[in-house]
Amino acid sequence: MNIPKRVRPELRDAKPYLPGKPIAEVQRELGIKRVVKLASNESFLGPSPKALTALRKASKNVWTYPEGASPLLRREAAAELDVRENQVLVGNGSDEIIRLLCETLVGPRDEVVCSQYGFIRFKQQSKMMGAAVVEVPMKDFRHDCAAIAQKVTSKTKMVFVASPNNPTGTFNTRAELTSLLRMLPKDCLLVLDEAYYHYAAGLKDYPESLSEFLPKHKNLIVLRTFSKAYGLAGLRIGLGIAHEELIQWIDRIRMPFNVNLPAQFAARAALKDKAFLRRCVRETAKNRGALAEALEFLGLPCLPSAANFLCVQSPIPGKELFRELLQQGVIVRPLDEYGLHQHVRISVGSYSQNRFLLGALKRVLALAATETGEMVHAV
Ligand SMILES: Cc1ncc(COP(=O)(O)O)c(C=O)c1O
Repeated sequence: MNIPKRVRPELRDAKPYLPGKPIAEVQRELGIKRVVKLASNESFLGPSPKALTALRKASKNVWTYPEGASPLLRREAAAELDVRENQVLVGNGSDEIIRLLCETLVGPRDEVVCSQYGFIRFKQQSKMMGAAVVEVPMKDFRHDCAAIAQKVTSKTKMVFVASPNNPTGTFNTRAELTSLLRMLPKDCLLVLDEAYYHYAAGLKDYPESLSEFLPKHKNLIVLRTFSKAYGLAGLRIGLGIAHEELIQWIDRIRMPFNVNLPAQFAARAALKDKAFLRRCVRETAKNRGALAEALEFLGLPCLPSAANFLCVQSPIPGKELFRELLQQGVIVRPLDEYGLHQHVRISVGSYSQNRFLLGALKRVLALAATETGEMVHAV
């Protein structure tokens, strides 16, 4: 069988998603014990202890199939988000919902509109369905909503906006998103990815999209996840919240049992532990501020971030900084796949993880300075 000839042509240029390097792999390859991973925007606090208790209890029942459409989680998430149950879809990570959306709505001859430095999964998944991806330059590393609206044609099925955006960490204001929704044709769907919602909620001008936009716009889906502030990335649970009719259509192609049984139980417990969520947001903001300040002091400016990571300008090519830090036992994320060759993305860690990173950075920058003969600040 000539496999390359037989696969769908849309897949010929597809590349597998490159996740952050796993800790165990770096420990194995470099033979070092302490490895700190700040590459996948996981929460340094991990999950609520209540979620872990629920997980342990649920593990006794893993010999049974889970409930197919996660009905209890769906009901409790709907109550928490103040929407109707039939407006919520539970996915195997919000990543699955991005995929389901593309499979439901786009095909060859369709267009989707994304931003230049918008989350890469939007582009990858749309291309896999054969859609043409129209990329709009960002303005000051933020989605340029007016320019996005201008790129929408009668062929545009979806517009993707992540707010806060990965990898920039920047968010769009209430006014910008309101005007984008006003400008979009009624049959073009806005996918508003709020994976980092909890870190941004309450900031000045950050909108409450579910109460402010969703009741007025049938052409909107909001994505949320349990992978970030809830600290459950390994369990893979995300939510899509939209008009019930859209949810019903997407649900037709959802895999039976898409969200596993322990994940459903842990997510329900995590939803209830509001004190833990508040603590996570508070401590992340504190550590993020301190980290950004320390990085700037070392001569590495950061974009303003409303998420649990920083997009950091590097004095040497980002890929090189990534490689050098790896030798020191720190995993960060180079951003070449985004065309950001002079930046890296660094997840906010605990106090001790951030200290370890800063120590490693000082050594790397001192080395880079001796090699180029330049002085590096504060080394
Ligand atoms: C903006 C954005 N959307 C979606 C996802 C996917 O998250 P999940 O773990 O829910 O699949 C991520 C993960 O990093 C993300 O940054």
